[in-house]
Amino acid sequence: MAALAGCDRPPSPTGEWSPKDHDRVDENSRVQSGAQAPSKSKTPTSPAEEARQLTEMTWQRQCAACHGAVGHGDGPNGPMVKATNLTADEWQAKVSDADIATSIRKGKGQMPKFDLPDSVVGGLVGRIRAMRGR
Ligand code: HEC
Repeated sequence: MAALAGCDRPPSPTGEWSPKDHDRVDENSRVQSGAQAPSKSKTPTSPAEEARQLTEMTWQRQCAACHGAVGHGDGPNGPMVKATNLTADEWQAKVSDADIATSIRKGKGQMPKFDLPDSVVGGLVGRIRAMRGR
């Protein structure tokens, strides 16, 4: 989780990379079905950066439809299922990181379960913690 604290660095504006960086990309760590590297995305330069991008992509593809881009529970399907507002102090204060991970893995109420690699679940927990008070 400490690696995610490094998110203060904005993505490179140029997206330049050298071809020798490319062999660091581990295709196996890409999120399960249907995920392809978006063609415009920058090639990750470090495992931490790659994990951050994978987490972001997973959130946008698998979570934002209900929880919204920021986490307010206002995605297109959010109101229908009453998706939790993950930015709320009150909610953030009462759950542990382990509770969040369990909800993602096992599902909860109207939320389906997600079979994701540990690294992605951990990344999502960190991303959700960063939503507090937004
Ligand atoms: C189909 C809509 C839907 C999708 C997609 C969805 N959620 Fe949810 N989520 C919900 C609903 C509804 C709840 C409220 C569940 C309850 O408390 O009964 C919820 C609750 C949660 C909670 C709070 C659980 C708790 O312990 O209170 C977390 C954390 C969460 N979602 C994370 C995620 C993440 C991460 C993803 C993507 C991997 C995701 N959700 C995808 C609908 C969704």
